[in-house]
Amino acid sequence: MYPALDKEIATFERRTPKSAEAHKKNLKRIPLGVASNYRAYDPYPIFVKEGQGSHFRDLDGNDYIDHNLCFGALMAGHCHPAVMKAVAERLHLGTMFGMPHDMEWQLAEEICQRFPVEMVRFGNSGTEATMHAIRLARAATGRDKIVKFEGGYHGLHDSALVSVKPHAPEFGEITAPISVPGGLGVPKSALANVLVATFNDLATVELRFKQNPGEIAAIILEPILMNVGLCMPQPGFLEGLREIAIKNGALLIFDEVKTGAKLGWGGASEYFGVKPDMICLAKSIGGGLPLAAFGTHKSVMDLISQHKVFHGGTYNTNPVSMAAGLATFREVLSRENYTHVNKLSTRLTNGYRKTIAKVGLQGYIASAGANGALMLYPREIRNYRDWTTIDIDLWRHYWFAMVNRGVMAQPYWWDEQWTISVQHTEADIDRHLAAFEDVAPALAKAQQERTAEVVAH
Ligand SMILES: Cc1ncc(COP(=O)(O)O)c(C=O)c1O
Repeated sequence: MYPALDKEIATFERRTPKSAEAHKKNLKRIPLGVASNYRAYDPYPIFVKEGQGSHFRDLDGNDYIDHNLCFGALMAGHCHPAVMKAVAERLHLGTMFGMPHDMEWQLAEEICQRFPVEMVRFGNSGTEATMHAIRLARAATGRDKIVKFEGGYHGLHDSALVSVKPHAPEFGEITAPISVPGGLGVPKSALANVLVATFNDLATVELRFKQNPGEIAAIILEPILMNVGLCMPQPGFLEGLREIAIKNGALLIFDEVKTGAKLGWGGASEYFGVKPDMICLAKSIGGGLPLAAFGTHKSVMDLISQHKVFHGGTYNTNPVSMAAGLATFREVLSRENYTHVNKLSTRLTNGYRKTIAKVGLQGYIASAGANGALMLYPREIRNYRDWTTIDIDLWRHYWFAMVNRGVMAQPYWWDEQWTISVQHTEADIDRHLAAFEDVAPALAKAQQERTAEVVAH
């Protein structure tokens, strides 16, 4: 820590005593005092009271422009009127039946219109979507192994919780990363089936296929690595993966839990012009309710139709989430709303870039669709290991300073990014930029001092 960061944290504590109090109560019965480890941070997380549009309020009544938006799951913004109306209309008709209904084909149709898939099944979380997609790929190929990328996050099941945030020296050489469990409890047997490659490095993928001939069922990736801030695929990378998968009879799975709704109308396949074999959707497709889907060719889904692969779930297609999903696809994720969000994104990105240049901050803005991030690196990151070099205290200084000025610029944690919702306005973006202009000189000064310290030592 350093004095400017200490000062921002002291201000944070002065502004949020009720969150501190509530966190203490949670801690007694709930590990870390939160329901998901991602929500925990020091000194304590902000406890929320309510949200509306592009803003939320905490327990102390502080108002924030919200670019956290539930870790990017709310491109609709809070309480979007179309979603609220659809949910309200469904609520008094019954919330769960465990039986089919006539919103299912409608939402499946919406998804197949936008994404290069022929059939879908629904679920409730991104974890479920990637878990079932991987199982299907294994069944379709008769192979057990998958390739994932170091730093990629695909949820919490055993096949996904590998090399999410591995450390040196366990993670091995960048040319052949070692599979590292994402915590205790991931069985060694699961680990043996998850091979790890380096994002933006096709040679590391080729190597895995060479070492495991005829054994790899699928390559799974976020088309834009969004669990290391925002790391774009370099030109040719996605196309290269497509070719490698075809050449080796493996399936290419795009985990579009983040990108699917937020990158544009047709998600990553439309944006990059590369067609995967399977896609996984969740987060922003539900408009604020839990909803997920995985989709693929009919020939692969036939394994479910023929009762060879099992998929189920009590909460699947509950009518409330489905009503929210339909309203989201039809009235939130519309072409004109993408135009609106892209316009705001350009405004925010340009504003940040101007200020970064003015104060001489070493860093850049990465942005795609509704997402973006202040990346505190001297040059563009290309993979997970580049991301690990960030000055964490400098990033915390940025986050707390923005929060203290009423802007939650992104979720806490330097591996996240901002989301712009369809309900954000130009005025929100200008307030966000004004806060950054206020904060940036202190960030640049702290960065220079910290660099000088490092050089001196
Ligand atoms: C790319 C990606 N895949 C999967 C998941 C898991 O989704 P969920 O938290 O809904 O299980 C996440 C969550 O952040 C994600 O970012």
